[in-house]
Amino acid sequence: MDKHTVAVMSDIHSNHRAFKACYEDALRHGADRFVFLGDYVSDLAQTRETLDLLYEIRDRYPTVCLRGNRERYMLECEQGSVSFRPGSKSGSLLYTFEQLRPEDLAFFGALGCFDTIRIGGMSVEVAHAFKEDDRLCFEKGDALIGQVFDGMETRLLLTGHSHRQYVARREGKTIVNPGSVGVPQDGSWLSAYALLWAEDGQFTVRLRQVPYDIRAVIHAQFASGLVERSHCWGISSLYDMICGREGTLRLLEAVSRHGDVYDETVWRREAERMGMAFTEEEVMEVAGKICSGTTYVTENEAAYITGHRGAR
Ligand SMILES: [Fe+2]
Repeated sequence: MDKHTVAVMSDIHSNHRAFKACYEDALRHGADRFVFLGDYVSDLAQTRETLDLLYEIRDRYPTVCLRGNRERYMLECEQGSVSFRPGSKSGSLLYTFEQLRPEDLAFFGALGCFDTIRIGGMSVEVAHAFKEDDRLCFEKGDALIGQVFDGMETRLLLTGHSHRQYVARREGKTIVNPGSVGVPQDGSWLSAYALLWAEDGQFTVRLRQVPYDIRAVIHAQFASGLVERSHCWGISSLYDMICGREGTLRLLEAVSRHGDVYDETVWRREAERMGMAFTEEEVMEVAGKICSGTTYVTENEAAYITGHRGAR
């Protein structure tokens, strides 16, 4: 009998605390193997701790690891085809790159961004994002997911990248996105992953949302030097994590529309216009309200949800 309990995790983005909480939750549910769909690093500060835990799991359990677009950026920087510089535009990636060791880059370089694996007596496709282009997201209900279903050669696809948890089904095929461990975009601060029970070609999926010490992550972001390296991006990533909403890309779009993406005064002005507060104390205050459930943020409210406006 071929029977497995598989923890499927994606988009950790250097959120070591959330990763550890999901790992422990998975073990409590009997996980005996792991599938990681990529984007292990960047945006949050604990690059080293995240990779060390990943290697520990890989050495202890049967584990599949894919490469995300963030690992591709790191490899491109190593090869010299892109460069990162201090500041909000790419300083966060520079910070991440500076934390890496040669063995991390060798690890990233050996990974593929999609594969077909065997789990519980069945073939399962795994991919970080859209196979043909790792920058493309697809969601339940959009046009691209139809194309993905059409291209599936197995009954089950595990995929990440959108940071949104869902299970989609069509004509006997299932797509599972476990969401994001580190920076979920499900409208909640809770860390997201999926458990898959597979036995003799049959499977059951359960989407999990797990609490963790988010205050420690905020503190690490300010204490690590990441916020100094990449001021607005570094703080904006924290709001995305706390609120479970995408604000950073909207900020980047606003900066790109209204000025030079390497001009910090433009970042600051646009971030303020979107309602962002900048100090650790202010970010902690917002986290306190959101995580205690006294403030809830809707999809249509301002991109930044600082507790000062755009939130209720
Ligand atoms: Fe990601």
